[in-house]
Amino acid sequence: MTTAHTPRAVGASASRRTFLTGAGVLATAASGALLAACGRSSSSSAGSSAASGSAPAASSSSSASPLPSGSSVLVAYYSAQGHTKTVAETIAGELGASTFVIEPANPFSQDDLNWRDSSSRVVTEYENPDQRSTQLASNAPADFSSYDTVFVGYPIWWQSASWAMTDFARQNDFTGKTVIPFCTSLSSPLSSSGTELAEMAGGSGTWQEGIRFEENVSTEEVAQWARQFRP
Ligand SMILES: Cc1cc2nc3c(=O)[nH]c(=O)nc-3n(C[C@H](O)[C@H](O)[C@H](O)COP(=O)(O)O)c2cc1C
Repeated sequence: MTTAHTPRAVGASASRRTFLTGAGVLATAASGALLAACGRSSSSSAGSSAASGSAPAASSSSSASPLPSGSSVLVAYYSAQGHTKTVAETIAGELGASTFVIEPANPFSQDDLNWRDSSSRVVTEYENPDQRSTQLASNAPADFSSYDTVFVGYPIWWQSASWAMTDFARQNDFTGKTVIPFCTSLSSPLSSSGTELAEMAGGSGTWQEGIRFEENVSTEEVAQWARQFRP
C-alpha cells in the first residue's frame, strides 16, 4: 500500500514534498523511520500522555479547564517552517499571552531540513544525536520566572519533539508552572513527546496532557481549543 501526503516544501529544490510509504521508495534509514511515522493518525488529536515531573498528571486537552484568573501566560515555541508559529500565535492571541521564539544558536536552513537528503544536517543529526548542538540563541525570556503557565509548541521530527524544544525543556526550571505542550505534524501523533519533555525538565513543573495539530490546521480549530483555557 502506498500513502502520499503533499505538505509544503522541505528541500530547497522542491516546491512540494511527498511522503510515500511503500516498498522501494525509501532511500535512507532516517527517511524510512520518518515515513513510517507519517503513517499514523491523520487528524488533530489530544495526546495520550501527560506528566507532572515524572508522574502522570490528570489534565487532558479535551477537558482543559480555564486558567486561574490573573494567570500570566507565555507561549514558547520552536518552528522550523512556520506551521507551529501560526498555531502558537493563534493561542497567544486567544489568551492575551506573551510569546517566546525558541531558536537554535545555529538555525536550520531549508537545505538543512531536507530529510530526503541522507547527508543533510537534519538527517546527520538525527542519526548522530551527539552531533546536535544543545545551544539555543536564548534559553528563555528575561521574565520567565513571572509566568505561571507556559504553552510549549514544537514540530514533530521522527515521532519526537524537535530538538530545539528538548533543549528548551532541559535548560529551564519550570517549578511552580503549569506546562501545556502542543505540537504540529504531518500525521504523527503527540505520542509520548510531552511526557519525554517533562522528564527532560527534570521533574520541574506540572505538565498537562498536550495536543497535536495537523500542520495546516485551521485557525478556528486552534482558537477553539485555546479558548477553553480562558479564565
Ligand atoms: C526533519 C523533519 C522530520 C519530520 N518528521 C515527521 C514525523 O515523524 N511525523 C510527521 O507526521 N511529520 C514529520 N515532519 C513534518 C513536520 O512535523 C510538520 O511539517 C510540522 O508541522 C512542521 O512544523 P514547523 O513548520 O513549525 O517547523 C517532519 C519534518 C521535518 C522537517
